[in-house]
Amino acid sequence: MTRLLFVCLGNICRSPAGENVMNHLLEREGLNTRFEVDSAGTAGYHIGNAPDLRMSKAARARGIAMKGRARQVNPSDFEAFDWIFAMDRSNFEDLAAVRMRSDNPTARLVLFCDFCEKHEEKEVPDPYYGGPEGFEKVLDLLEDGCSTFLRRWREEKLD
Ligand code: 4NP
Repeated sequence: MTRLLFVCLGNICRSPAGENVMNHLLEREGLNTRFEVDSAGTAGYHIGNAPDLRMSKAARARGIAMKGRARQVNPSDFEAFDWIFAMDRSNFEDLAAVRMRSDNPTARLVLFCDFCEKHEEKEVPDPYYGGPEGFEKVLDLLEDGCSTFLRRWREEKLD
């Protein structure tokens, strides 16, 4: 079992989209029994909330149902997951600080865009205060990076 955690700031836009895009690809490829996927936020403002409706609408238009409720990341996530994907550098820095509070951190902490092949972006931009195109960009980046990650996993080229 490979355990994946997507992390952004609020856990209502980018990281739940990452979780649901990845689950969508896993189901399509018959790999859903091999993975466990979750998402969390570095901040606690939206704990318990459903994904942002603008994000859900954009995902739905691509055939992806957005499930889940927001939670905050915690040090034990670094023991429970194999890979932790930070959506941007600020998330990465906040996660590195959370990792310091774990007794036995084993997760690989990475910037999600390290897996993007078709895009030049180094971060998944926060769409919260912008227009609909920002939510489309989030999904474009997530589809690119998630499919690349799965291909490398299949080819055993993750290092
Ligand atoms: P996310 O987007 O980090 O992709 O979930 C945001 C959601 C909420 C806020 C900022 C970003 N906020 O400031 O409340």
